Amino acid sequence: MHVIVTGGAGFLGARLIQKLLSEETVLEGQAVTRVTSIDLAPCPVADDRVESLTGDIADSGFIKSALIEEALAEDTGAVCHLAAVVSSQAEADFDLGMRVNLDATRTLLEACRAHSKRLRFLFASSLAVFGPGLSQSRSQPVPEAIGPQPRSSYGAQKAMGELLINDYSRRGFVDGRVCRLPTIVVRPGKPNQAASSFASSIIREPLSGIEAVCPVAGELPLWLSSPRAVVANLVHALALSGEPLGDWRTLNLPGITVTVNEMLDALERVAGPSARQLVRFEPDAAIDAIVASWPGGLDAARPLALGFQADADFDAIIHAYREDELTS
Ligand SMILES: NC(=O)c1ccc[n+]([C@@H]2O[C@H](COP(=O)([O-])OP(=O)(O)OC[C@H]3O[C@@H](n4cnc5c(N)ncnc54)[C@H](O)[C@@H]3O)[C@@H](O)[C@H]2O)c1
Repeated sequence: MHVIVTGGAGFLGARLIQKLLSEETVLEGQAVTRVTSIDLAPCPVADDRVESLTGDIADSGFIKSALIEEALAEDTGAVCHLAAVVSSQAEADFDLGMRVNLDATRTLLEACRAHSKRLRFLFASSLAVFGPGLSQSRSQPVPEAIGPQPRSSYGAQKAMGELLINDYSRRGFVDGRVCRLPTIVVRPGKPNQAASSFASSIIREPLSGIEAVCPVAGELPLWLSSPRAVVANLVHALALSGEPLGDWRTLNLPGITVTVNEMLDALERVAGPSARQLVRFEPDAAIDAIVASWPGGLDAARPLALGFQADADFDAIIHAYREDELTS
């Protein structure tokens, strides 16, 4: 079985490709034996079973040559659409966000629709589809049926993508799965242009003895997941048959509710008080306006019943980061 991954050079895309191949994930009774990455950058996964096509998914000419004429084949079973312009960047450049996050999603769906087989189509959506005023309380998670009311262009573009995938699935053009990802912590490497980038920085930098700045209040609850759990959940979403998903293909992936202060408590338990002291609070109204509009907890009962998983607690997330990224 062949799988196409847009954003295959990115943080999650590369990890998804590795996991699909290392575990020979089974889709519709067939193991995944080859993957095509489509991204602006070459896919870093060194594996003969990975083909890397580089180009801009917002360029319909590239999609035609790379996807329709080159990648889509008889044995293709799924397209995982992860390429995106992330939150702060989509807010700063409206036209770029629209081209990459919305227009390219529709172009990809049309390419899949024209394929001879009904393909599974996995879309990485985000908490940013929600709006302000939702419960931030752990004991009252936001119900699944709450509709999107985004307060950012990124959130609006993801919400429009969700609706497209649901409708293309309803019409039988693709077999869609929309995963609303929690904020992913701890992300290795350097800060990126996501508004939630600080959530990784305040753990990652102190673990390496470097200072970090927190732009939001310590009391703010965040809905979090480790990269390990998210990648496992993306693979699960892809491998599930469409039937138990029913008509509504959008899933709130499970996460855990943790306040910024609780994250720092866990950092202190794992790495000591000196690590915590490296984090200083410097409020940033622009970041706060975006991140504080996201719910701090979602009702994930349906995804949990479908076999998706959450991390045990925030200490476990830090330990997983150390095992996966800091030991070699
Ligand atoms: N990481 C998170 O916390 C998080 C949370 C919610 C949703 N998501 C979603 O998950 C997906 C993957 O996120 P990530 O953290 O791996 O992001 P990332 O920025 O690491 O990867 C995105 C990839 O998309 C590629 N890309 C961007 N524009 C492109 C274009 N025009 N043409 C081709 N490729 C292009 C980039 O080169 C990059 O490799 C995204 O859709 C993102 O919106 C991530």
